[in-house]
Amino acid sequence: MKAILILCALLTPFASVIAKAPSIVPKPQELRLIADKPFVLNASTQIRYDGNGGKAVAELLALGLRPATGFDLPVSQSDKRGGNSILLTIQSNLKNLKEEGYVLTVADGEITASAPTARGLFNATRTILQLFPPQIHSSEKASNVTWTATACSIKDTPAFPWRGMMLDVSRYFFTKEYVKRYLDMMALHKLNTLHWHLIDDAGWRIEIKKYPKLTEIGGFRGEGENRYGGFYTQEDIKEIVAYAAARNITIVPEIELPAHTLPALVAYPHLGCFGKQFQVPTRHFISQDLYCAGKETTWTFLEDVFTEVCELFPGKYIHIGGDEAKYSRWKKCPDCQERMKKEGLKSEHELQGWMTTRVEKFLKTKGRRIIGWDEILHCGVSSDAGIMTWHKPKTAVDGAKRGNPVVMSLTGHAYFDVAESKLPGEPPTAGWIPPISLEKSYQWHPVPNGLTAAEAKNILGVNGCIWTDQFLHNTKTLADKPGKGTTASEAYVDYLSLPRMAALAEVCWTNKESRDYDNFSGRMSTMLARYTVLDYQYRIPVPEVSIKPNPEKTYTLSATPAIAGGTIRYTLDGSAPTADSKALNGSINVAKIDQFRAATFGPNNQRRSLLYQHVDSSNKFAKHGKVIGKWKSGQVGDKKAKVVTFDATGHINSNGIYIITFQYTGGGERLDIDGIEVVRNDTDPVGKDMHHGFTGSQAKNNTYRIHVKNYETGASFKIKAHIYGDEGTDSNGVVLIRKK
Ligand code: ACM
Ligand code: ZN
Repeated sequence: MKAILILCALLTPFASVIAKAPSIVPKPQELRLIADKPFVLNASTQIRYDGNGGKAVAELLALGLRPATGFDLPVSQSDKRGGNSILLTIQSNLKNLKEEGYVLTVADGEITASAPTARGLFNATRTILQLFPPQIHSSEKASNVTWTATACSIKDTPAFPWRGMMLDVSRYFFTKEYVKRYLDMMALHKLNTLHWHLIDDAGWRIEIKKYPKLTEIGGFRGEGENRYGGFYTQEDIKEIVAYAAARNITIVPEIELPAHTLPALVAYPHLGCFGKQFQVPTRHFISQDLYCAGKETTWTFLEDVFTEVCELFPGKYIHIGGDEAKYSRWKKCPDCQERMKKEGLKSEHELQGWMTTRVEKFLKTKGRRIIGWDEILHCGVSSDAGIMTWHKPKTAVDGAKRGNPVVMSLTGHAYFDVAESKLPGEPPTAGWIPPISLEKSYQWHPVPNGLTAAEAKNILGVNGCIWTDQFLHNTKTLADKPGKGTTASEAYVDYLSLPRMAALAEVCWTNKESRDYDNFSGRMSTMLARYTVLDYQYRIPVPEVSIKPNPEKTYTLSATPAIAGGTIRYTLDGSAPTADSKALNGSINVAKIDQFRAATFGPNNQRRSLLYQHVDSSNKFAKHGKVIGKWKSGQVGDKKAKVVTFDATGHINSNGIYIITFQYTGGGERLDIDGIEVVRNDTDPVGKDMHHGFTGSQAKNNTYRIHVKNYETGASFKIKAHIYGDEGTDSNGVVLIRKK
């Protein structure tokens, strides 16, 4: 083997002679370039495998390489080295690698990958695909591409074992084909868990042979031409589970109880407390009618359902929901009240706990564990029960300290049914929490503060969520228009999932110490080009334009496209740029910026981003005085105050009272302010105002008051602000000053 250069491509003075490091997302734990010529895949490349389980992985790789290259590469069992080959081996004795880890080398005209399990080997093949140019993902033969892979050595293993996405197929029924496409999307990012939200008030989507009305009646809503619905047969489910397993993805089905299950009560009214006949709702709401916890017939039903569910889904965990149960019916139901008396339960919450633990015990007889939303933590479940934290990190801390396995699904980072921004043109999305930018979905660490190293091991990983409530609010806009190669509904889910799924993947795959948002953004440029080839309808990033005022009253505008092969196009007349508009290559000089508009266009100008438009925040907030500075994403503290300095020299120009105001302009986080201090000539304290305030749409106490005495001409004044984002660092805004 050739000598490994332990030099980072960025640091080495020989960067021009050493190939650029391949852009792989999620970032491998270790990647070293090797001074050797690249591997070139051609029609005579051999794919070889060795070790139990390697065959399926090798065949899937060959299948994946075929459409774009046109090469029907032979796959054979052999540990032979040499020739132009890709050798995939399973070696159970590989040291220091977790089950899903792998090592990979591109050198001497071959690619070799080894892993302790087939799961790790599959991950190696996802990296192999990312060693080649983006066209490798094309569904048609790509012309004029040389399939080169840079010589390198990779040692890689995931930071967390649970790397998941939740897909809500109840509010909107996605076809089997789209679910498979979604699994492919996840596999590209080395995600390994599909949390399949199969049941909610708006539809029951899993066939249960013993209770056919669950899907025949509960799988549909509305009447006449507005009738809508569908479900997965058990054959469909077996096919999807096998498809996922071949891609190292375990499917965790969610069978909600006791709430979010109205279709079961529609199909079988005796399952509710009062036997009332309901309809499957056509508008979004959360039903207060729950499974009756008192009647024994509920148990027969639940045990039958879970028995069939366990036969279909081989994974360790079954998700039992548990969220948002309102107890109004249980409070009035004689059976539920009788049950509470008999079992010595003091509240309906304890009754939910009793019901949950009964299901937990039943599933244990089948060798399974439950996982549920964080509401189940304090209702008596055993320390084997998985806790999916969506509210606040505190439940994760409590759960992990108690010994429960915990999956982080925090609304502020992982709820991808929320838009990335508030820019005009974003599709209708959930609006009960602020936007989650790509950066915000990246800037978090799944292990919350307050855990010992041993307790932190109980944090299994993360789960992104695609809820589809919006299909009930906006069925026409989201579902009716067909898009390119997809329906509008699928395009909508692609758009919400990507590129944030990549951020999520890196959060749970790559060790915290190796993660860096700027580095991630750089690698994403190639990943976005891959999405384009895959025809994923992802959200194209809006250009980040830097504006430099020039002394002669012009502006220099500069920006770089976020997508490899993409272009930023602009206009100066306020109109939306088209594929024919001028390209912004590097930088331009303009006389005025108020009518400047720009957008990122993907490769071949197929699609464009939302518009960039300069917002003159100093005018907008004129009543607060003059702008003395801005804070930007990444500059402020991460949940803890950091001191950021703003220069008020020239603005403080006499004795008197000055009011300093913080105004949010963008990003996923409000800014929290623990206070400000003013210093003269860098060291001399002038005064401070250390009250707590915050910015955002509901800003509070965000103005600070400083009394300047003993003013001296020529002195400098600095404002030291103690500021942080409430959940991370993605916050932008301006600081203004006025004299009272
Ligand atoms: C949830 O968002 N109800 C888990
Ligand atoms: Zn009841």
